Amino acid sequence: MGSASFDFSNTTTVVTGGASGIGLTCAEMIARCGGNVVVSASRRPDKTQKAIERIRKAGGDKPVAVSAFPCEVGTESSVEGFFDAIREAGLRVDHLIHSAGVSPNTEFFEQTQQEWDTVLNTNTTGAFLVTKYAARAMTDNPLEGDFRGRILLITSTNGINSQDPVSAHYDASKAAANMLVRTAAEHLSAMQICVNALAPGWINTDLNATLPPDVREKESSKIWMRRWAEPEEMARCAAHLLTMPYLMGQVVMADGGYR
Ligand SMILES: NC(=O)c1ccc[n+]([C@@H]2O[C@H](COP(=O)([O-])OP(=O)(O)OC[C@H]3O[C@@H](n4cnc5c(N)ncnc54)[C@H](OP(=O)(O)O)[C@@H]3O)[C@@H](O)[C@H]2O)c1
Repeated sequence: MGSASFDFSNTTTVVTGGASGIGLTCAEMIARCGGNVVVSASRRPDKTQKAIERIRKAGGDKPVAVSAFPCEVGTESSVEGFFDAIREAGLRVDHLIHSAGVSPNTEFFEQTQQEWDTVLNTNTTGAFLVTKYAARAMTDNPLEGDFRGRILLITSTNGINSQDPVSAHYDASKAAANMLVRTAAEHLSAMQICVNALAPGWINTDLNATLPPDVREKESSKIWMRRWAEPEEMARCAAHLLTMPYLMGQVVMADGGYR
């Protein structure tokens, strides 16, 4: 993966959902570019340990610190505890990549209120809570250029383009997260905190394990580049967005072209 043009040395990036998929490859990219990384632990301890090993390996011989703390993104006390643990570990929050999310893919009439609530709680409430506590942690940072900190939410093109009814709850949750980017960016810009979103299209990760084969086929036929992306490609997009000047309150779609 080409990453030589990015320099994250002397910074710490917090990555929620950093133990798998897009979050993990973002964490590896940051470490490869010399940055410290804190990931939210997976609910499976063995998965967290493997992720930490992969991120450390990506850091190679660079002096990169890698740690993990528990964080249930849809629960305020847990998110607050996560950022407390980061502060107590003596780490500054320079960047946030919020990648934690769920996508159950369930036939429309089978979607229960309980499932809706879980998806909205994780994807929308989670985006708000993580943004709120990351921004609080960033307000004490010294000003580096225009910003004290940068927040990048991983949302989805599903929150912009209409998709299949199996993801009705997911699409609604991501549309809300995309709007949060605008509001949070306007508010937090006064504190010199940058907020943007990367909205991926179809990416080869475990998130799509439950996607019905006919939906996969239908969706694939709509991609102009005629292929799904690999998570590493999203990590490169994320690194670009975290380092771009004068980008504020934007939801940037990386979907290979789609209709
Ligand atoms: N893959 C795609 O095609 C695609 C497309 C557009 C957008 N996205 C977005 O990209 C992000 C990452 O997805 P991915 O494809 O990398 O999926 P993934 O491999 O399934 O990773 C999702 C991560 O989120 C974590 N997570 C889920 N619920 C959580 C909760 N309540 N609290 C804390 N962590 C939680 C999971 O932790 P556990 O290990 O504990 O389960 C996992 O580490 C998601 O926000 C997704 O919506 C993905």
